[in-house]
Amino acid sequence: MEQLIEQMKVILGTNFGLYFKAHTFHWNVEGPNFVEYHNFLGGFYEGVFANTDLIAEHIRALGSYAPTTLARMMELSKVQDIVAIPSPLIMMSELAQDNDKYIMELRTGIAIADAADEPAVGNFLQDILDAHQKHGWMLKSFTR
Ligand SMILES: [Fe+2]
Repeated sequence: MEQLIEQMKVILGTNFGLYFKAHTFHWNVEGPNFVEYHNFLGGFYEGVFANTDLIAEHIRALGSYAPTTLARMMELSKVQDIVAIPSPLIMMSELAQDNDKYIMELRTGIAIADAADEPAVGNFLQDILDAHQKHGWMLKSFTR
């Protein structure tokens, strides 16, 4: 169970890191297709952010506490902050790579949930995985 709780915390932090990065890109994107990128990134960050609460509440239901500081969230996240403001296509490529990292953590979480005989947690993570596989297709389609 400890392993599942720890992985759920990594998933929470990574979800938050991905959400926050996408939100900053939504704010800062520039270029001739501004509206298209701004709107796509808006829908993306909203979808990712919506899962933050659900993941944290699953951690509580597993008997642990959710992180209480942004520093701890970013320590748990597999998504790294970037200070520079990249071009729109680099933003998409960056998010596609980050999304792939998140998918790896979700897959690990599903395997751990199966091993811990926690099918409800596994199903919950599968639904997020499904959404992020679709996000991955869209993000990668910008840069082909
Ligand atoms: Fe906005």
